[in-house]
Amino acid sequence: MTVRVYTIASGKGGTGKTTTTLNLGTALAMLGKKTIIIDADIGMANLGLLVGLEKSKVTLHEVLSGEAEIKDATYSGPAGLLVVPSGLTLKGFQKANPDRLKKVVSSLTEGMDFVLIDAPAGISKDGLIPLTVADRILLVVNPELSSMADALKVKTLAELLGKSVEGVILNRAELDKTEISRNKVSELLGVGVIEMIPEDVNVRRSAAFKTPVVVRTPKSPASIAFKRLAAKISGEKFTESGDKDKKEGFVNRLTRTIFGGK
Ligand SMILES: Nc1ncnc2c1ncn2[C@@H]1O[C@H](COP(=O)(O)OP(=O)(O)O)[C@@H](O)[C@H]1O
Ligand SMILES: [Mg+2]
Repeated sequence: MTVRVYTIASGKGGTGKTTTTLNLGTALAMLGKKTIIIDADIGMANLGLLVGLEKSKVTLHEVLSGEAEIKDATYSGPAGLLVVPSGLTLKGFQKANPDRLKKVVSSLTEGMDFVLIDAPAGISKDGLIPLTVADRILLVVNPELSSMADALKVKTLAELLGKSVEGVILNRAELDKTEISRNKVSELLGVGVIEMIPEDVNVRRSAAFKTPVVVRTPKSPASIAFKRLAAKISGEKFTESGDKDKKEGFVNRLTRTIFGGK
C-alpha cells in the first residue's frame, strides 16, 4: 500500500492528541502495518514520556537543528512501532527549525504504511507546519463547546492550506450520551466522527507505566476503541473481542449448557 501521512491535530490543548497518536500507532503496528509516529509538538513534547524514551539523547530536536540524522532519532516501540520523540529541553526547542519537518517526514515514508504526526495544539507557526506536511488530518476533540470551536478553526485553516480533515475523533466521550454528542459534533464541525474514545482510567494508568493502553489493558474500553479506529483507518476487519462480546459469549455458552444445542 502507499504510505499515508496523518497529522493528529486539535484546536485546544489536552484533548488527547498524544494519547491518540501513540495508541492508534501501536494498534496499527499490532495489525501488522509498518507505522512510525513522530512527536512534532516540539515545544511541549510528551510522546517520548509515554513510552519511556524521555532520556533519549538524539531526538527530533537534533534532527530539526541539523545536528543528527533521522535514523538516529528513530527508536523501536511496542509491537514493532517506530517512534521519533522530541526532546524535553527548552534549549533543544529553540535550536530546532520546524521548517525542516517536511523534508524529515518525506525521508521517513519509504517502506512505511503509516506515518502519524503528533501536532501541537492551536494555530501557531509550529502548529501549521504539521498540517501542511500531512496527506490527511484527524482532529481530536472533547465533547465540550470550547474544544469544538477551536477545532473548527483548525479545520478551516487546514482547508485554506489545501488539506482536508478526514475525520474527527471524539475523545473522553461519555458513553451514555454518545449518539447525541456524535451527531452534534459532526454537525458543528461538518466532518464525520470516525471513532469515539470513552473516558477510561486505564489511559492515565498506562501512561504511568510508560506503556500504551492498547498494550497494557487491551480489553479496556479506550483500547477497544483505539483498535477499532486502527481497523477502520487501515481497512482491516476489527476482530478483537471486547468485554461485551465476552459476556455474550458466556451467556451463549450457559444457554447451550442448560438447553443443549450447537
Ligand atoms: N480517553 C481518555 N480517558 C482518560 N484520560 C484521557 C483520555 N485521553 C486522554 N486522557 C488524559 O488526558 C490528558 C491529556 O492527553 P494528551 O494525549 O496528552 O493530550 P494532548 O496531546 O492533546 O495535549 C493526559 O493526562 C491523558 O492521560
Ligand atoms: Mg500532546
